[in-house]
Amino acid sequence: MENLKDYLEANKDKYLNQLLEFLKIPSISADSAYKNDVARTAEFVAGNLRDAGIENVEICPTEGHPIVYGDKIINKNLPTVLVYGHYDVQPPDPLDLWDSPPFEPVIKDEKIYARGASDDKGQAFMHIKAVENMLANDALPCNVKFMIEGEEEVGSMNLYPFCEANKEKLACDVILISDTSMIANDTPSITTGLRGLAYMEVEVTGPNRDLHSGVYGGAVGNPVNILSKMIASLQDENNHITIPGFYDDVEVVSVEERKAMNEAPFDVNNYKNGLEVKEIHGEKGYTTLERTSIRPTLDVNGIWGGYIGEGAKTVLPSKAYAKISMRLVPHQNSDKISELFKKHFESLAPESVQVNVTAHHGGEPVVTPTDSLEFKAASMAVEKTYGKKPIPQRSGGSIPIVPFFEKVLGVKTVLLGFGLDSDNIHSPNEKYGLFNFYKGIETIPYFFKYYTELKQG
Ligand code: BES
Ligand code: MN
Ligand code: MN
Repeated sequence: MENLKDYLEANKDKYLNQLLEFLKIPSISADSAYKNDVARTAEFVAGNLRDAGIENVEICPTEGHPIVYGDKIINKNLPTVLVYGHYDVQPPDPLDLWDSPPFEPVIKDEKIYARGASDDKGQAFMHIKAVENMLANDALPCNVKFMIEGEEEVGSMNLYPFCEANKEKLACDVILISDTSMIANDTPSITTGLRGLAYMEVEVTGPNRDLHSGVYGGAVGNPVNILSKMIASLQDENNHITIPGFYDDVEVVSVEERKAMNEAPFDVNNYKNGLEVKEIHGEKGYTTLERTSIRPTLDVNGIWGGYIGEGAKTVLPSKAYAKISMRLVPHQNSDKISELFKKHFESLAPESVQVNVTAHHGGEPVVTPTDSLEFKAASMAVEKTYGKKPIPQRSGGSIPIVPFFEKVLGVKTVLLGFGLDSDNIHSPNEKYGLFNFYKGIETIPYFFKYYTELKQG
C-alpha cells in the first residue's frame, strides 16, 4: 500500500487536471439543450476507464442519457465490488450568484469550484483514479465493476430497467458509492441511511384569464393567495405535517439510537453562522441532527404565478403553481405519500379554484447496517487514512437507486462519501476540497483490501 501512496503523490497534478477537464463539460441532465454535452461526458468517462486499465468498457444507450459500464475481472473466485456514481450534474442557475463560471473550474483556497465538483464528478472520479492506481501497482485485490450513470439528478428513470435487464452483468458482492458527505475533514463519518423522496407539482386555477386586480379584486378567488394559504396549512404551529396519515408508517427510532446519533459533533452556532440565520427551524421535539435524518419533511422548492417582472403590474392572476417535495424516512413509501398528499391537497381547495396535483419521480428511503462486513471494511479504511474511527450517520439526502440495488441485485451498499455539507451541492459556487479528492483516492484502495480480506475470512 506504500507504493500506492507514492504513486498517488507522483500523479496528483495529472489526476487533478483530468478532473478539471471532466468538470468543464456541462453535463446537465435536466436540460435537453445539453444532450450532446451529456453524451460527450459519457465518452470522457469511458475513455478514462479504459486509460485506467478497465476492460469491457461500454457506453450503454438508454431512452435518456447513457450509462457507462466497465469491469476488471481478475479472478472469478474473488469478490466483486461494483462502483456506482453519476456524471450528470444539476443545472447551475442562478448563474449571477456564481463567483466564477460553473463550467470553468478554478482552484481557490485549496478547493475546486465548479458544478459537479463534489456532486458527483469529483467523487466518482476518485474511484477511477483509485482503481487506476491499484492496477498500475498490481494491487487490485478483487474484481471491480463500474456503472456511472447520467440521469441521477433527474431520477434515474432508465437505470431501473437497465439493472433489471442486466442482473448478470452487474452481479457483485457489494456496491460502493461516493456521493454523500462526511461530518468534517477532521471528523470522518460514514453514511448509514438516505431519505426517500416524493415530489409533487400543483397547479391552482382561478378565473379563465388574468384580471384587473382593481376591477375584479376582492370578488374573485386569487389563485396565488389561495395556494399560499393551502401551502401554509400543510404544517402546524409545531412544524408537524398536517397531511392525514403522513406519519402512519414512520419508523419510531429508539431512545438509545436517538441518544447515539445526538452524540455526533454538531455546533448549532456554527450551523447558524454558516447559513447566516438568527434561529434554526423545524419540527418540535427533535434536534437538528434528527430533523435532517430520521424525520420526514415537506418543502416548497419553487412557487410562481402572476406578475414577477419589473415594477408593479396590477393583476389578479388566473393561475398559480408550486413544486413541493417531501423527504421520507423508513418505512414510508413514496407512492403512498404522493397519494395522501394529492387527496389532502385537493380537499384543501375552496370552490373558487380548481387544483391539479401531479407526482414527479420519487424514491424510497434506505438504512444500511453497521454490523456488516462491508461497513466494517469501510470503517477500517477510513480509520486507516484519517487516523480516527468514522462516526456512522444517517444523511438527509436521497439516492433513490440505492434501495433498488438491494432489491434487484440483492446486495448491500456502502455509502463512502468524501464531500462536506458545506460543498454547496445543487447551489451556486459548488466546491470540492483538494484534501477530500486526494483522501478519497487514498482511502478507496483500503476498502478494497479490507473488504476482500474480511470476505475471504
Ligand atoms: N448526491 C446527492 C444525494 C446526497 C447528497 C445524499 C448529500 C447525501 C448527502 C444526489 O445527487 C442528489 O442530489 N439526489 C437528489 C434526489 C434525486 C432524485 C434528484 C436529492 O437528494 O435531492
Ligand atoms: Mn449525487
Ligand atoms: Mn445531486
